[in-house]
Amino acid sequence: MKIIHISAECYPIAKVGGLADVVGALPKYQNEIGANSSVIMPFYNNKFTQAHKFTSIYQSKVKLGNDDIDFEILKIKGSVLEFDVYFVHIEELLYSENVYTENDINRFLAFQIAALDWILTLKEKPNYIHSHDHHTGLIPFMAQESYKYESLNKIPVITTIHNAQYQGWMPYDNIYKIPRFNIEKVGLLLWDDMINPLAAAIKCAWRVTTVSPSYMEELKYNANGLESLLSHESSKAIGILNGIDSEVWNPETDKYILKNYRKSTVESGKKANKKWLCNEFNLDESKPLFAFIGRLVGEKGAELLPYALDYALSTKDISVIVLGSGHEQTEKELSGLVARHSGSYNAFIGYDEKLSHIIYAGADFLLMPSRVEPCGLNQMYSLRYGTVPIVRRIGGLKDTVIDIGDNGFGICHNEVSVQDIVVAISRAKDFYKKQKEFKANRKHIMSIDHSWKVSAKAYINLYNLIT
Ligand code: ADP
Ligand code: GLC
Repeated sequence: MKIIHISAECYPIAKVGGLADVVGALPKYQNEIGANSSVIMPFYNNKFTQAHKFTSIYQSKVKLGNDDIDFEILKIKGSVLEFDVYFVHIEELLYSENVYTENDINRFLAFQIAALDWILTLKEKPNYIHSHDHHTGLIPFMAQESYKYESLNKIPVITTIHNAQYQGWMPYDNIYKIPRFNIEKVGLLLWDDMINPLAAAIKCAWRVTTVSPSYMEELKYNANGLESLLSHESSKAIGILNGIDSEVWNPETDKYILKNYRKSTVESGKKANKKWLCNEFNLDESKPLFAFIGRLVGEKGAELLPYALDYALSTKDISVIVLGSGHEQTEKELSGLVARHSGSYNAFIGYDEKLSHIIYAGADFLLMPSRVEPCGLNQMYSLRYGTVPIVRRIGGLKDTVIDIGDNGFGICHNEVSVQDIVVAISRAKDFYKKQKEFKANRKHIMSIDHSWKVSAKAYINLYNLIT
């Protein structure tokens, strides 16, 4: 079974969030169970591409409206990853330091067209094409409807919604950039008078998946305008919970953390990582350490953190570390708290993969007060590292964390509010005081299996059932 994933991100090549982690792991685990799964993504100008050598395997021009733009398909020299990755290299559009820029309409249109142009030339065509999020949302439409891709229109295209908040909206006048199709089909591209790539993907894909079962249900009443569409298309839609790459996220072998550990050595292992964090960030290691890692945006409930943390820190019995970047105001407020709570609070504003691993390893609790959380990977990483997740009951968080009050292992709250976050932190402190129970829980959560094994199989079953 040959599968090509089309995505804007893929770990470790280019990562902004969880999309990269998923696309960097799912193909590997699909291959482990006998598939031939690969990824096609843009060639960015980043640390990864600068550190590796590439060979050009195909050159052509991509037609974007009236422009013919040179593109190449590149492959990494040598076997660096456990699955094949093909890169669309378009010097003038895609070759930027950042994955996302101001010019994303043209960038991702050109990327998608070039990807399909190349697939068209393959002797051995894929059995399935799997597109991810709105950046590749026009793939199902083009593969189905554009005349030039007619020979691909029997290949099932599956689309996965990682986040329906972002839909890739484009003004209607971009229509001429989409390879020619029967104009009577134009409605498939539109939603509320805009070209809406995510809506088009939901309409045209053979199957639609979301990254957790609860998120699929929630989208029917909260999908940033696409609620009725998702309800209408629900017969071809299914939620499949993400897994985690248990080789990358393994405290026993993790190269980034200060001291490796497993269940039997979790106490000393976490202590060493916590000590390093507390020294480095001027925190008190004798207190329970709470952490937040993530994009500082409304979806993550991030704008409430400065207020909730300020309140929670006033009792002087916790330490807190924040790692994230996003809205400027939230960044400022989170940085501003450092002076008020020096010695028990710190924030690293920015993106740092290594530091994130050390925090999962060294923290006692991880906060995720998300407003929207299609799946969430942080809570699964934290479980694997023996760190208790404190989550709002929503989306994938609801599917993966059970409250200690319900014979579970984490702390859950219902609302995204300062009060709920503060109460959750207070419950966590009480739990931490019961050291025997707390330590037993650490061992327990480390053994919860969220590896990709189950979900990789679920995707293969889904492909197989397409008729
Ligand atoms: P989302 O994709 O919505 O941001 P996920 O929970 O699916 O949320 O995945 C977030 C991923 O990005 C995790 O791997 C997390 O560790 C990582 N991450 C988020 N922010 C940062 C940051 N500032 N530095 C390092 N890693 C980060
Ligand atoms: C999105 C979602 C996140 C999910 C990730 C990977 O970025 O916001 O909840 O875990 O995609 O599917």
